[in-house]
Amino acid sequence: MPRVTKNENRRKSCVAILPAAGSSSRMKAVGNKLFCEICGTSVIVLTLKALQKSPFIDEIIIPTREDMIDDIKNLVRQNNITKVSAVIPGGKTRTESVLNGVLHAKGRFDLVAIHDAARPFVSQEIIEKTVLAASRFNAAAPGVPVKDTIKDAEGGIIKKTVPRDTLFGIQTPQIFDTDIITSALVKATRDNTPITDDCSAVESLGMRVIITNGDYFNIKITTPEDLIFGEAIYNALNRR
Ligand code: CTP
Ligand code: MG
Repeated sequence: MPRVTKNENRRKSCVAILPAAGSSSRMKAVGNKLFCEICGTSVIVLTLKALQKSPFIDEIIIPTREDMIDDIKNLVRQNNITKVSAVIPGGKTRTESVLNGVLHAKGRFDLVAIHDAARPFVSQEIIEKTVLAASRFNAAAPGVPVKDTIKDAEGGIIKKTVPRDTLFGIQTPQIFDTDIITSALVKATRDNTPITDDCSAVESLGMRVIITNGDYFNIKITTPEDLIFGEAIYNALNRR
């Protein structure tokens, strides 16, 4: 049996990076989704409250658009989100925004938890399980089994049906050892690798990413319909 030293028992420190520099283009005329209200609270404040509440998150850094910095700072102050240490400029792509946040943390934390500002219903359990898995295995992200049958298609014609039993929808927070995510994102940015999430940057280094149990409430607000689903989720979670 390996001897467990005090140091190995210690909870690893974890900074949350909250990318919030997007343009909400799929929300169409609705406008900036992060400021849309769900049952009276803006999406970004709901997300911040979930991270503020978690004993597994020590500090929060928010990369956002220059024209949103003051508005976000005001929301942080008004809602007493004391873990936010910096609201900084994001980048043209999500990857650049995340990298700005990671570099701003200057390696002061063992782990980096990257969580979409647009994912307001993340549960305390998901944060805890994913931090603990990343503490042990260096890289972890919550996932849920896909419900739809997925087809591979080209030009509107189905080429084949992809077997569903091995497919997962991957959510955030995606949590990594600080050194691993820093080198993965620096490499992805330098090589201009098109990536849709932070796990893929780490996967492309040939590293293993553990899937933890996500849940179907942990949606990303993306299109106008999601605000309707969001109200239903908010009511369901607050009735429990
Ligand atoms: N994001 C970011 N910097 C970018 C692009 C996106 O920080 N250059 C953030 C968004 O603000 C969001 C998260 O990444 O919190 C997930 O991205 P997505 O849902 O795609 O948001 P948007 O890019 O804003 O939306 P769309 O793709 O519809 O324009
Ligand atoms: Mg986007």
